[in-house]
Amino acid sequence: MENVIYETKDGIAYITINRSDKLNALNSPTMNELIEAFSLAESNPQLRVVILTGAGEKSFVAGADINELAELDPIGGKRHSSMGQEIFNFIESHMTKPVIAAVNGFALGGGCELAMACHIRIASENAKFGQPEVGLGLIPGYGGTQRLPRLVGKGRALELILTGKMIDAAEAFRIGLVNQIVPYAGFIEVEKDGIKKQKPDLAATKKALIAEAVKLAQSIIAQAPVAVGLAVEAVNRGLEMTMAEGQAVESNLFGLVYTTEDFIEGTQAFIEKRKPKWIGR
Ligand code: COA
Repeated sequence: MENVIYETKDGIAYITINRSDKLNALNSPTMNELIEAFSLAESNPQLRVVILTGAGEKSFVAGADINELAELDPIGGKRHSSMGQEIFNFIESHMTKPVIAAVNGFALGGGCELAMACHIRIASENAKFGQPEVGLGLIPGYGGTQRLPRLVGKGRALELILTGKMIDAAEAFRIGLVNQIVPYAGFIEVEKDGIKKQKPDLAATKKALIAEAVKLAQSIIAQAPVAVGLAVEAVNRGLEMTMAEGQAVESNLFGLVYTTEDFIEGTQAFIEKRKPKWIGR
């Protein structure tokens, strides 16, 4: 893969979008590689959680590649949007392993949509979120008009989508777009035109962001693997249904976990006052 780095360590798949000279904008090869990387993570039984981030310290993903969007015709636009939606739906609904977005800078347009398709979002203090498509004569096309109101409510979603404005990590946290903010991990002195200034140490901040994402991943890895996957499924499917239908799905999945050996192990370990040893089935 050229535009996506795929690494694994201690049960975690690290997927890094690697086009930092273009602020990790999503062009077609990058989208194809993303699906390849997520499929690899999903099919590897050793892996339990995925951490998705952007290369460098400035940007998570600054959107779909505008150069590509500029070349499309109406049918091409429709296809492009459906293809993006399909890839992001794969992340949200077909991954049985939770995906944590570690948002390390700009998450704009398709970048914000990608972060929203992940199951949990944590952001460094320098992160910026927005849906700037209307400023390009477009609208969000990778699920943003649907996921943003579900996450932050209709009024706030429309304010962001209709103004195209960028919000900082603190505001994204306040409105529930991100779960957690990782503060600047220090400052470095820079000198410009003879004037010394303090600048956030973004390299150290990115390290702290990934460390927090790993901590979160480890607290998920400590739980029963099948139960974790089914809990994601119950939440995802339930959000598309009425309360009664969602609860029926929940009961069926609740029954299904009784078929796992990990259910026996988890309950026995509690009774025997010891830590459970998961086998993942
Ligand atoms: N598509 C294609 N290229 C992009 C891009 C995108 N979405 N976002 C950034 N880039 C490219 C720039 O064209 C530039 O490439 P170049 O060096 O070959 O000219 C490079 O990334 C760096 O971006 P630049 O604009 O110089 O950085 P900046 O710090 O001045 O501004 C942003 C950062 C994020 C404010 C600005 O890049 C931007 O507005 N990007 C587009 C965001 C957007 O509208 N996304 C939604 C797309 S639907």
